Amino acid sequence: MQLRSGRSTKVERDTVHHPLFARSYARVSVAAETRAGMAGVRRRLLGGLSGRVIEIGAGNGLNFAHYPGTVSEIVAIEPERALRALAVEAALRAQVPVDVVPGAAEALPVKSEAFDAVVLSLVLCSVRDVPRALAELRRVLRPGGEVRFFEHGRGGGRVMRLTQRALDRTVWPPLAGGCHMARDPVGALREAGFELGPYRRMLMPEKGPALPTSFCVMGTAWRPRGDAAAGGS
Ligand SMILES: C[S@@+](CC[C@H](N)C(=O)[O-])C[C@H]1O[C@@H](n2cnc3c(N)ncnc32)[C@H](O)[C@@H]1O
Repeated sequence: MQLRSGRSTKVERDTVHHPLFARSYARVSVAAETRAGMAGVRRRLLGGLSGRVIEIGAGNGLNFAHYPGTVSEIVAIEPERALRALAVEAALRAQVPVDVVPGAAEALPVKSEAFDAVVLSLVLCSVRDVPRALAELRRVLRPGGEVRFFEHGRGGGRVMRLTQRALDRTVWPPLAGGCHMARDPVGALREAGFELGPYRRMLMPEKGPALPTSFCVMGTAWRPRGDAAAGGS
């Protein structure tokens, strides 16, 4: 794995500490693989990737089983200690080499332009500083490299959006490991200077009543080919 050199090799550990959320996410996310069709979503998200990939906020590592053999190496960043331990177990079972590393999206402990692709799944809702995290993604991705994203965010009609905002301001982030429901992942990627490729809005779960967390989007974005070096290495 290519770590950052010099002063910036110091990696902040456990910047995210949500032990209760971690325990419940570990259970709920595994059930959602089959019950909510998440395994299929993960397969579609990762299909066709190749080269060196960095996955941000890898959680308990449920994506690892779905990477194609064309991926040569995955660096999986996970700041939450309990989820990271589960990700390490998942990495041992994976068909592609996975290096699970502590760290946060806002200060990635890796060199600039070291990756062909970045994977984001259900993580932009939780990072503390979205613009800073996306600036870091742009730094570590090579020019022309791609971002694969599957995120939830704002959606629905007026009442749903008001509900999402009210929950974001009150109970939801402390209950759900810092998650927010009313963010706009596509807008944030565009504002951070990525070129948006095709993306598709979808509800998860696909059937049944829409919940405030149901409004999802899956797609691809690119770091522009002519993008000048973003930040130091
Ligand atoms: C809802 S879980 C999603 C986990 C996994 N990506 C998945 O698809 O199942 C959100 C994840 O983001 C991680 N996270 C929270 N804040 C983060 C940050 N600042 N940088 C990187 N990951 C973060 C959490 O620890 C958690 O693993």
